[in-house]
Amino acid sequence: MDLKVRVYGDPVLRQKAQTITDFDDDLKALADEMLRAMYLHDGTGLAAPQVGESVRLALVDLQDGEGPFPIINPEIVESASEKIKGEEGCLSFPDIYEDIERPRWIRVRYQDLEGNQSEKELRDFAARVVCHELDHLNGVLMIDHISYLKRKMLKKRLIELREKADQMASST
Ligand code: CO
Repeated sequence: MDLKVRVYGDPVLRQKAQTITDFDDDLKALADEMLRAMYLHDGTGLAAPQVGESVRLALVDLQDGEGPFPIINPEIVESASEKIKGEEGCLSFPDIYEDIERPRWIRVRYQDLEGNQSEKELRDFAARVVCHELDHLNGVLMIDHISYLKRKMLKKRLIELREKADQMASST
């Protein structure tokens, strides 16, 4: 398996991903391949729809020394009403970085590769990474969080990305 990271314009990025019910070897193999793709592209997070698999799995590296780990079927069970702005990038939007508002902290519930449930309270950068990846599982992208004006300014680059996505789709 050689995973290609899908860029903006690929319809899979807009789908609502399916809940995972089978915690089997295929799921572990997908998580392994995604981990490789994430490091190859130097990302801090990667969601399965970004590699063309519309299932509720994402890998996150919270940069807390614990290394990357998978979050499966994640749900935000509580979050701060206070929002903070911070810069985000996305492997599906190469070379685009935008300031985006996210809750200062969240409490997230998720399952691991065995199906065991955990809960974590995350702040600042870590909360931001998880919110970004969870959005991907709902077909929501970082450009949905920026102003109309900023989106307009990005329009040309977004069209270029879309064309690239079309070329990728027709070459496979
Ligand atoms: Co992303």
